[in-house]
Amino acid sequence: MKHFVIVAILVVISTFLVKAGLDAVGLLPVAASAQAGPIDNLFNIQFTLISFLFSLIVVFMLYSIVVFRRKPGETGDGVHIEGNTKLEITWTILPLLTVLGLATIGAQALADTRRIDPQAMVVKVTAGQWFWKFDYPDYKVSSTTLYLPVNKQVLLQMTSQDVIHSFWVPEFRVKQDVLPGRETELRVTPIKEGGYKVRCAELCGTSHALMENPVVVVSDANFQAWITEQQKIGATSPEERGKKWAAEFGCAACHSVDGSQIVGPTWKGLYDHDVPLANGQTVKADDAYLKESILNTNTKIVKGFAPGIMPQNFRERLSDDQINDIIAYIKSLK
Ligand code: CUA
Repeated sequence: MKHFVIVAILVVISTFLVKAGLDAVGLLPVAASAQAGPIDNLFNIQFTLISFLFSLIVVFMLYSIVVFRRKPGETGDGVHIEGNTKLEITWTILPLLTVLGLATIGAQALADTRRIDPQAMVVKVTAGQWFWKFDYPDYKVSSTTLYLPVNKQVLLQMTSQDVIHSFWVPEFRVKQDVLPGRETELRVTPIKEGGYKVRCAELCGTSHALMENPVVVVSDANFQAWITEQQKIGATSPEERGKKWAAEFGCAACHSVDGSQIVGPTWKGLYDHDVPLANGQTVKADDAYLKESILNTNTKIVKGFAPGIMPQNFRERLSDDQINDIIAYIKSLK
């Protein structure tokens, strides 16, 4: 009996120490959504149980190894034990109750994270190899950054253009697969202003790891300001938008619009003209050629220029609409 009391005390002490250690490591990122509450609560229960089970096994084992080790001169066998019905019933009933308890709390947490706010703002999410795109149907705005007002539930209606992707912002905790040919839903109520990242949590091809887009949570006033700005951009002509994208995405840093050469070929007088290629061929600078040159930057290298200079990530960074705007802008540079 004395041994059990000592072990019980050691197990309690060890449980506290292990749990404190796990807490100190900071296993979870900041909790930035209302849905994170019930999920972190579950994690906390799990971490406590894990600390206890770890201590129960390791303390019992180490205590036995040290205290009941064979003393010098001892040659006999250990006590022969036949089994213990009471112990076996106990270690069946206790875990059963624990698992049932966890299932109940888990179901409650699931219901909490899916609670519907009828006022929720709808954002249509499109995933594809390898990009995220966000449409705000209420405002007729489309963006590659997910802008969200704080303390307002957003209903993400998601679909994929090709394979299975998965929407996951670790700070929001909740995660949902995005499927082709089907719409899946996720509800998030951001509670902390700040910058986060949506990552794809389903292996979806070569650039899966690069499938990250910014998520920005701002005050309601700043959100409205952003919407107004986006609507203004949307209302301008494609050429004007293209000029803005060219500045924003760095095109203008390498491609001049006045005929001079910075790093890459100038855009002035480019559209609809013949372009001599490094491989000796000539190609007409039409929409298809320009789009290909933006997306697959190394397929057709212009004569006199080296391959590999232009960034190769515009497929992820630019939406189709933005590419069309840039082409419209190039078209206007006669
Ligand atoms: Cu999309 Cu991984």
